[in-house]
Amino acid sequence: MELDFDVKKLIKQAMGARMKAYAPYSNYQVGAALLSAQGRVYPGCNQENASYGATVCAERVAFFRAVQEGERAFRAIVIVGGKAGEEPDSYAYPCGICRQVMKEFCKDDFLIIVAKNTKEYEISTLAELLPHGFGGENLA
Ligand code: THU
Repeated sequence: MELDFDVKKLIKQAMGARMKAYAPYSNYQVGAALLSAQGRVYPGCNQENASYGATVCAERVAFFRAVQEGERAFRAIVIVGGKAGEEPDSYAYPCGICRQVMKEFCKDDFLIIVAKNTKEYEISTLAELLPHGFGGENLA
């Protein structure tokens, strides 16, 4: 797939975000790098809590940071996840709640890129990962 942005750079930014993960309970560290339509990048890491349900995924941290800065349109997100202290050996596809948050702000062609490293990654669209999703248009 031809991309109009530097995917390897975005993967490196997600890997950098993963270094900040606060995951003392699961020891599963996730980093995300969210690219806005105007070309800015918002990193996020997962942030766990002793009250497990208060945990927030890396993807949502990235989205909430971006929206706080006034962003409303997005091009792509890279997600890198794996056991603490190890290079990821599988792809960390976003959980259902994060897919729903993406649906709030992104169109069907938003790119979700899961990566193990700068050479191994898979690209999907939001429409592929959240078919028949529920969105604001249903409430209009
Ligand atoms: N996690 C993410 O940050 N993103 C995902 O898409 C899946 C799960 C985090 C939440 C929790 O801190 C840890 O991974 C284990 O579920």
